[in-house]
Amino acid sequence: MKLNRQFGNTDLQTSPVVYGCMGGAGAFGPQEEKDSIEALLGAYEAGVNFFDTAEMYGKGYSEQLLGKAFGEKRKDIIISSKVSPKNLSPEGIQTACERSLKNLGSDYLDLYLIHWPNRDIPLADSIGALKKLKEQGKIRYYGVSNFGKEDLTDALELGDISANQVPYHLFFRSIEFDVQLLCEKKKVPIMCYSSLMQGLLAGKYRSLADFPASRARTRMFDSRRWEQCAHKEHGAEEAGQKALDDIWKITSATGLRMEELAVGWLKAQKAVGGVIVGTRNAEQSKGLRNLLDIKLSPDVLAALTEATDELKKQLGADVDMWGKNRIR
Ligand SMILES: NC(=O)c1ccc[n+]([C@@H]2O[C@H](COP(=O)([O-])OP(=O)(O)OC[C@H]3O[C@@H](n4cnc5c(N)ncnc54)[C@H](OP(=O)(O)O)[C@@H]3O)[C@@H](O)[C@H]2O)c1
Repeated sequence: MKLNRQFGNTDLQTSPVVYGCMGGAGAFGPQEEKDSIEALLGAYEAGVNFFDTAEMYGKGYSEQLLGKAFGEKRKDIIISSKVSPKNLSPEGIQTACERSLKNLGSDYLDLYLIHWPNRDIPLADSIGALKKLKEQGKIRYYGVSNFGKEDLTDALELGDISANQVPYHLFFRSIEFDVQLLCEKKKVPIMCYSSLMQGLLAGKYRSLADFPASRARTRMFDSRRWEQCAHKEHGAEEAGQKALDDIWKITSATGLRMEELAVGWLKAQKAVGGVIVGTRNAEQSKGLRNLLDIKLSPDVLAALTEATDELKKQLGADVDMWGKNRIR
């Protein structure tokens, strides 16, 4: 079965599941390089051809891992990387892109995204620099990440935005209030991140209380659980636990794994161009094959939507999964 399809308005042929390289660079705790490389190669063997990284992940180490893993085979895969918000001046973007290319051992990036908005630097200057990189052949396409309706509208007036990478998963559906509609209307593919809610939707936890405090930083959780939380609120844990209980029930009723439900649901949502999933080792990467294939029935999709409607309502329209009001 042919899985890869055209990514938005680009000529990139991408797998519906995108490999997320953040965890491989140690974002979720100690990580052996051998495991990270085997996880990357395992993802490719499973059928994933699209890899998402960022200069921010391990300060370039994540990009270097991709370069090490694929070497001469770089042309067989599609790579997106992201420029950090502090580097969004025209000179900053040019230098950051060249540094990322060096890290990757490649002379081009398929997709280059602005990782987060920076309100101190005019967006027009940043987009101008991205256009220049495209003319130079250093990037094939560019786009944005963590852009809400207002920022995305501005960006679309300035250039050809080929993707918006945003948090979107069963436990965080805030883009459904407006960003998703805009992406659909303007044909900007959504790259969903934290699709497994950093592992909470990978079927390992019965209770939110068991989820590691260092990962319980999103707005669903009470900020008192993790002192470095970017938000200062009490979260929506009761609604979150109820959603988790209901999703567990759906796993029993369908015989499907929780990550299959989580990814299958995202794949069926409007404007979704790629569901990003991160793994830590070769064993976890084997599971990506099922995630590439999974297609849920309308009944199961509806049950999952219903299971998380109350949580969606409580978390509201702010697309910032970690803090408040940083995304417009
Ligand atoms: N643009 C942005 O601002 C932004 C922000 C965050 C993430 N992202 C992107 O999105 C990617 C993915 O999101 P994420 O890193 O937040 O995590 P995620 O994909 O939601 O969850 C990853 C975790 O799921 C667990 N997992 C995956 N496959 C598994 C399997 N087969 N069996 C058991 N557990 C499994 C692992 O947990 P354990 O670690 O417990 O094994 C893994 O670390 C990132 O790598 C990055 O590319 C982008």
